[in-house]
Amino acid sequence: MTTAFDPIDLAGTPLANRIALAPMTRSRATGPGNSPTASTAEYYAQRASAGLLITEGVQPSPVGQGYPDTPGLHSDEQIAAWRKVTDAVHAKGGRIFAQLMHAGRIGHPDLLPGDLINVGPSAVAADGQVFTHEGPKPFITPQALSEDQILVTIGDFAAAARNAIEAGFDGVELHGANGYLIHQFLAPNSNVRTDGWGGSVEGRIRFAVEVTKAVAAEIGADRTAIRLSPGNPYNGIVEPEPDPVYTALVAALEPLGLAYLHVLEVAPESRELTLRLRKSFSGVFVLNAATEGPTGPDALTLIEDGTADLISYGALFLANPDLPARLRAGGPFNAPDPSTFFGGDDRGYTDYPALDAAASLGA
Ligand SMILES: Cc1cc2nc3c(=O)[nH]c(=O)nc-3n(C[C@H](O)[C@H](O)[C@H](O)COP(=O)(O)O)c2cc1C
Repeated sequence: MTTAFDPIDLAGTPLANRIALAPMTRSRATGPGNSPTASTAEYYAQRASAGLLITEGVQPSPVGQGYPDTPGLHSDEQIAAWRKVTDAVHAKGGRIFAQLMHAGRIGHPDLLPGDLINVGPSAVAADGQVFTHEGPKPFITPQALSEDQILVTIGDFAAAARNAIEAGFDGVELHGANGYLIHQFLAPNSNVRTDGWGGSVEGRIRFAVEVTKAVAAEIGADRTAIRLSPGNPYNGIVEPEPDPVYTALVAALEPLGLAYLHVLEVAPESRELTLRLRKSFSGVFVLNAATEGPTGPDALTLIEDGTADLISYGALFLANPDLPARLRAGGPFNAPDPSTFFGGDDRGYTDYPALDAAASLGA
């Protein structure tokens, strides 16, 4: 029986086990020009015993930034800073993909340089508020991308993917989940375009497909992956009929030979669709399973029963830098502290103890 502790080949990249660090924004990229810092390198290196690390969302271009102090991959400064992170992870035998996240309409002009305005498939604002340096502010109505701007944006993803490889990443994961730009194109309430980039299912999946193709052409399909969250209402998304959209999208991605497909499962009722997507994708399937509360040890049975090839862990990995060892030992687990999830200093970032340290502290 295959277990979470067995190695796996990720389109040519050997992984030591089947446990992944899920992408998590930490809003601590306080280096020059939104660069990661020495603490970022320490944070990821501490978690290098994962088979695969996926970084926090990284903006491919300045306009793609959605939150304070998130890192980019669009300048030489950022490439050099990320190189220190990937070197630290590789020195410990880890593998790391950068998550390219264009936030689209999620964000605020206050968070963008100069007079940039947030963009989206259509001029439709998300309900809700965004956290800025001055506190929460309502989402603005984004500027609808013109066809030319869509092509430029696709080029930005490809350029950022090239930068990721230059910075030493093993590959990139495109953030097609959680209501950010790629997901905004997929959903009928955020994409009301009537041209070839909206309308029908084919039109709405086109941006996701074209971005993925452009990135795969730039760095190789074996280093390109995508994350999807069918039906996720987060960030004002309404997808009344996710099945045909995601079925068509995965069918279009399948022939590309991607490194992996990462599905964030929104609710237990989505399992049927999860299984269908897994079946129609011949590459490695990473699952962030719908569970009650944060993903825990029980999710590993999904590898044993073949539901997924890898399981990604968010909050539990954030709080347990040596999560694979703890899962193997059956615990104990440090509890995550949500008050230090976003922003701040090294507290709640690099100071969660590993098992040996926890044992010597009597934890
Ligand atoms: C602090 C925090 C930040 C997150 N940031 C991202 C992100 O940048 N990109 C992303 O795809 N998901 C993000 N997520 C979602 C996680 O990847 C994961 O899907 C979610 O936490 C559920 O998994 P879990 O139950 O294992 O925590 C974030 C979650 C947390 C807790």
